[in-house]
Amino acid sequence: MNPILDDVLTSNAVVLASPVYMWQVTAQAKLFTDRLMPVLKPDYSSWLTGQKLLSIYTQGQPDISKFAPYFEHVNQMFAFLGFRTLAPLVFGGLRNIDDIQKHPAAFEQVQQAVNGLLAE
Ligand SMILES: Cc1cc2nc3c(=O)[nH]c(=O)nc-3n(C[C@H](O)[C@H](O)[C@H](O)COP(=O)(O)O)c2cc1C
Repeated sequence: MNPILDDVLTSNAVVLASPVYMWQVTAQAKLFTDRLMPVLKPDYSSWLTGQKLLSIYTQGQPDISKFAPYFEHVNQMFAFLGFRTLAPLVFGGLRNIDDIQKHPAAFEQVQQAVNGLLAE
């Protein structure tokens, strides 16, 4: 995690992408968030310097509002750590390998969002 933390602390933005597993981020993504603890100082102020945080989720559930309260909760956690959170990108109805074809604009949407992060 140390090299990743170095990257986070010296970056302008972080993009976290995770499928939804059992209404949550994957265990691997959760482990990453757990290990972000050192960005907080002992008084809970942050070592971060305005890094933006874009989260991208895929899910089987076609209704992309289904887990919105959870995504908001995750964003609040990132804001507490000192990130400037952006509205998550969510792609639903993805159960089989070709289902991404249902979202012909997905890659462009992600590219645009990342370009927006890089522009500032
Ligand atoms: C173990 C597991 C749990 C899942 N839980 C959910 C869920 O709670 N809600 C949902 O909408 N989709 C759920 N899905 C579907 C995945 O979010 C969806 O298929 C995703 O695109 C899979 O990405 P992956 O191929 O990178 O694992 C689950 C899939 C797996 C394998």
